[in-house]
Amino acid sequence: MRLFTIVSLALVLAVCAPCAEAQKAPPLRAPDVHYEPSSPEIVEAMLKLADVTKDDIVYDLGCGDGRIAIAAVQKFGARGVGIDIDPQRIKEANENARKAGVTGRVRFLNEDLFEADIRKATVVTLYLFPWVNLKLRPKLWNDLKPGTRIVSHSHDMGDWPPEKEIEADGHKIYFWTIPAKKQ
Ligand SMILES: C[S@@+](CC[C@H](N)C(=O)[O-])C[C@H]1O[C@@H](n2cnc3c(N)ncnc32)[C@H](O)[C@@H]1O
Repeated sequence: MRLFTIVSLALVLAVCAPCAEAQKAPPLRAPDVHYEPSSPEIVEAMLKLADVTKDDIVYDLGCGDGRIAIAAVQKFGARGVGIDIDPQRIKEANENARKAGVTGRVRFLNEDLFEADIRKATVVTLYLFPWVNLKLRPKLWNDLKPGTRIVSHSHDMGDWPPEKEIEADGHKIYFWTIPAKKQ
């Protein structure tokens, strides 16, 4: 009887261990940029520079703890989508959205920003690296609707000149608009 119990227990453990492992959701791949949050002053300045309103859907590509998408909902009445490759950041972002009481108007997705569907965005926010901005540029031009606004904390877009450039909390913030598609 004792042997039967031990064998049964071993079987249950063998079956459940992989399930528990699967629930941990490993990173999709190494992030292109390490996590460093924008300060609250910079978050507010980015959203103001993009002139965010209640009609906007703000996508933060590489959203970290979700602060930009959450502020877009809380302070500007917009809807928000945050995308991050690191499942730990997505967990924090969902927790922060819950604490802020904005879960109905914000979504966080554990995806690679280069693969994500960003076509519904009316505003895109970035705090990445210069080379990541450059690699992302063709996707922004290809996937986003004309008129979509883009703001980037600290880094520009190479030879795509910004329409506006400001400083907040000692950091540069750049602004562009997606131009009309060439026929
Ligand atoms: C500098 S942090 C910016 C966080 C947030 N946007 C902010 O301004 O507070 C960059 C974030 O991008 C994420 N990241 C890096 N490479 C990524 C990729 N290929 N796809 C999605 N997220 C990525 C990192 O995990 C990190 O959370």
